[in-house]
Amino acid sequence: MPVILKSRREIEMMRQAGRIAYDILQKMKASVRVGVTTAELNEIARVELARVGAIATSKNYPTYKPGEGYPAETCISVNEAVVHGIPDHRALREGDIVTLDMALQYEGYCADTAVTVPVGAISSRNTQLLDVTKEALELAIRQIRPGVKWSDIARQMQNLVEAQQFEVVREFVGHGVGRSMHEDPKVANFVNGEQLRYDFKLRPGMTFAVEPMVVTGRREVKVLADEWTVVTADGKPACHFEHTIAVTENGADVLTDGREPWGL
Ligand code: MF3
Ligand code: CO
Ligand code: CO
Repeated sequence: MPVILKSRREIEMMRQAGRIAYDILQKMKASVRVGVTTAELNEIARVELARVGAIATSKNYPTYKPGEGYPAETCISVNEAVVHGIPDHRALREGDIVTLDMALQYEGYCADTAVTVPVGAISSRNTQLLDVTKEALELAIRQIRPGVKWSDIARQMQNLVEAQQFEVVREFVGHGVGRSMHEDPKVANFVNGEQLRYDFKLRPGMTFAVEPMVVTGRREVKVLADEWTVVTADGKPACHFEHTIAVTENGADVLTDGREPWGL
C-alpha cells in the first residue's frame, strides 16, 4: 500500500485527535497507584472518549476469529507484558511498571500514543528501562527530517538500547497513522534484513507512530491464552513509549505531546 501523505489541514485534524489522546493518558497516569485495577484505568478512558465524542480504535479491533475483536478502549500492559494487555481486575502493586496505550479516532482522524509509568518505587534497572525507551523515542524525534532514511534512525535507536544491555522487540513496529490507526509505512525500531526491505525515506506530510518496545532480558515474546497479551518469553519486564508524529520541512511535529505546533 502506498504511504498516504497528509495536508496541513489533515495534520491539524490529527493534532486534535492527538491532544485528546494525550489528555486521556494524563488522566490515566494521574490515577496510577498501588491498588488501582487496570480495568479502572481503562474506565477513565472510556468515560472521557464518550464525553468528547472520540472512538477507541482498539475496541473490536479484528482478530482472525470472526465476531471477536479486542475487548477494550485501551491496552494496559503490566511488567512482562509488552503490548496489547487487556484491562482486567488485576490491581497494580508497588514496584510494577505499567504501559498505557491509547489509540483513538476523532472526526475521522487517528492518533496513537503510549507511556510506561512506575507504580510507587521501582527497581533501578526498571528506571533505566523506562529512561532508555523514552530516550530512544526522543532520539528518533530529534533525527526526523525530510530526506533521512528511516533505517538510519532505527539503527541509532537500537544502538542506544543495546549499549545499555537492553534489547529491542522485533515482532512489533510503529506504523503510519491517518484516517486509519494502522497505515503504511512500517516503522521499525531496529535494523535487520526484513526491515531494510521496507525501508523508506522521510517526506513532508508523512504521519506515523514511532513506538519502541524494549525489554530487560531476552527479546523473544509470546502471546498469552487470552490471544492478545504479548509478554516476554523469559518473564522479564518490558517498556513501550509511543508518539504520533508528522514530518514537516523543519523536522518532527509531535502530535501527541499536548503542545501547540511549534514554529507558528
Ligand atoms: N495502540 C496499538 C498500537 O500502538 C494498537 C492497539 S489495537 C489492538 O499500534 F487492538 F491491537 F489492541
Ligand atoms: Co501504534
Ligand atoms: Co498504541
